[in-house]
Amino acid sequence: MATKEVRAAQWCEINRKNLIEYLMKKLFIVALMALAGLQANAQTQTLSVDKALFKQGDNMEWANLDVDDSSWSSIDVKSQWDKQGFPAHNNDYAWYRFRINIPKSLIQNADQQNAVIINIPRADDVDECYLNGKLIGGTGFLPTSKNGFVGAVNVDRYYVADAKDIHWDKENVVAVRVYNRGGSGGLFYNPLNIYAPKAAEGISMRLTDYNEGKQYYTIEVINDYATSTNGKLEVVMTDRETGAVVKTINKKITVKRGKPTMVTVPYTMDKMQKLTVTYTDAKTGKVIKEEKQLKYVLTPDDPVTPRFNNAPVFGVRPGSPIIYRFAVTGERPMKLTCSNLPEGVQVTEEGVMTGKLDKDGDYTFTVTAENAKGKDTQIFTIKVGADKIGQTPPMGWNSWNCWGLSVSQEKVIASAQALIDKGLADHGYCYINIDDGWEAAERNPDGTIEANEKFPSMKGLIDWLHDRGLKFGIYSGPGATTCGGYLGSLGYEKEDAEKYNEWGVDYLKYDWCSYENVRRETNDWGFASCIRPYLLMQQYIRQQPRDIFYSLGPLGGTQVYLWGLYCDGDSWRTAPDIEDDWATVYRVGFRLQEGLSKYSSVGHWNDPDMLVVGKVGWGRGDLRETRLTPDEQYTHITLWTLLASNMLIGCDIEHMDDFTVKLLCNNEVNAINQDMLGKQADLTKKDGDIEIWSRPLADGSIAVGIFNVGDVDHEVDLKALIPSDKPAKVIRDVWRQKNLADEELKCNIPLHGCRYLKVTF
Ligand code: GLA
Repeated sequence: MATKEVRAAQWCEINRKNLIEYLMKKLFIVALMALAGLQANAQTQTLSVDKALFKQGDNMEWANLDVDDSSWSSIDVKSQWDKQGFPAHNNDYAWYRFRINIPKSLIQNADQQNAVIINIPRADDVDECYLNGKLIGGTGFLPTSKNGFVGAVNVDRYYVADAKDIHWDKENVVAVRVYNRGGSGGLFYNPLNIYAPKAAEGISMRLTDYNEGKQYYTIEVINDYATSTNGKLEVVMTDRETGAVVKTINKKITVKRGKPTMVTVPYTMDKMQKLTVTYTDAKTGKVIKEEKQLKYVLTPDDPVTPRFNNAPVFGVRPGSPIIYRFAVTGERPMKLTCSNLPEGVQVTEEGVMTGKLDKDGDYTFTVTAENAKGKDTQIFTIKVGADKIGQTPPMGWNSWNCWGLSVSQEKVIASAQALIDKGLADHGYCYINIDDGWEAAERNPDGTIEANEKFPSMKGLIDWLHDRGLKFGIYSGPGATTCGGYLGSLGYEKEDAEKYNEWGVDYLKYDWCSYENVRRETNDWGFASCIRPYLLMQQYIRQQPRDIFYSLGPLGGTQVYLWGLYCDGDSWRTAPDIEDDWATVYRVGFRLQEGLSKYSSVGHWNDPDMLVVGKVGWGRGDLRETRLTPDEQYTHITLWTLLASNMLIGCDIEHMDDFTVKLLCNNEVNAINQDMLGKQADLTKKDGDIEIWSRPLADGSIAVGIFNVGDVDHEVDLKALIPSDKPAKVIRDVWRQKNLADEELKCNIPLHGCRYLKVTF
């Protein structure tokens, strides 16, 4: 049936002088609405309104039906307010009121008669929508919300109103409160549309992976606004490698409004499997289908005998305090002992090394870890020298991708404790870095900075970490404010560097953000203006009597890698902010890293941004599972280790599941990232969707990642893709930690998946 649009009449221009005219026009509109109502007898009818009454400011009373809005202005809701001559009005609110007669005929012949959909225009940036004073929806987060402002500009807004809340054939008020962060503001893009939902519209499926004792999926069939309906649910679990059906469930279900029907499907992670779920609605025949890859673990269990997982090297400047934690797996209790330990250095039985060395040079000693099951020995070198910080890419955690600006001391301790408890520290993850959101609102009268109330004791937190051999990272930027709007270091670089030393900071992420304003004010757009602020902070942090790993943040379109070395950066971002979706990981990890290996060297690493595996969320509401499929997550970690990138975990470690722990704790995979040659991989071959990235390793072998970046699976011959003329002696699957037999070399690489090889000649 063709959709019939009933356009509401033009809303009148209202001004105080013209009240009579306004009332006349209003009468006319009501008449027109009644006419619209008479015509509204088709099932798929939509009532559209593109004008509203508008007022800048904020008053929750304006949500109600009976409000004197006679002095409000008329506005076209398809275009932002500043484009219609209203003041730009940044960081503030405005209200739109739609006075609408909603004809009963809109639902009379509709499939579903107990609700209507109110599709309001898009909002720049956040909205809350009320029908006759009752909140029916909102999109984005207002600054007053728990975790602060999050805009949602280009998002369609469909809200559901209960039929019983509508004043049928009478005037209703849809009131929209809009918050604008900056630039253009207000409703735009589409008119307000009201329609009755079609049969089975509002039925959706939610598939959630759980790891609580065992691994399982919950399948929920949800009914947002349909009347109760019946259907068939079919669940098929398939082995992705053999195609064999592992499990099927067929069920007749009733889906009630507001009460999801749930089915639980347990699975094991020892195979590559997928779940296909189909719901077929009995009345309408509507089919909803979803497919999910199930998580699978490739990393073998750590042996019970001791095993060193750290690179056998650590760099420190002369006289700087050493804080280092040997990363050893194996059954506890375990004892570490050293022989030929240089004077001035101590190692506890638990493996925490402290002390200092005043003279340049290489100090080599033997460290042995022993438990009831056996022992392991490592020849370890401390490299002392002014340029020896960051001998291998930093491994650890950063708060941004999970907590965003809502980071707190409590959350940091929880992740640090989990880093130890879940064994990640035994695999070399040792930095605990806070990102933006720790800074107090104002500086002290002497210009020094403090942490805000979320960090009751920065010193206490850092001491706690140091006692455990972990290191602490902090965040700031050269501008007056950081990217999150907190205090930056502009004009206080010395004070901040000194404060970092006083607290015991080991890592500084120095982000560009508002420094762009300084360039604008001085109209200085040259190369030097990029380098200057980073050089300034570099001088101050290098003057401190402790080592602070200096990580440079991304800078708009300018390529930090071109001059990062000149600022003595220990690493620099080579991509804009990462997100947990394939398109971003593909762009950030593959496309933007091509040709960059020449800018990376030991102590000066390219950094394509933090990891997006596990539970992430950027502080925008609840944490959620990464949206990357398991295959994509293997690709992400494979590529980052090949790129000799900083390996900063971006998720909540306290709630990290076994799959993610195993993904991040494969000692052979991580050994490639930490390889002492420090050579970043290059794209060595590209054959359609198949990309081969490889890097030479210190032992003469090569690490090879074979990636399928396309959208279909591909059969490949791994041997033929190894980028070397020399005959391979051993081809080792690094994830599975086993040498491959000839018959295993021809294989399928699923879309967005990869194989990771170490090839010895
Ligand atoms: C920038 C950085 C992010 C994060 C935020 C904090 O966007 O690229 O990694 O540090 O700032 O505001």
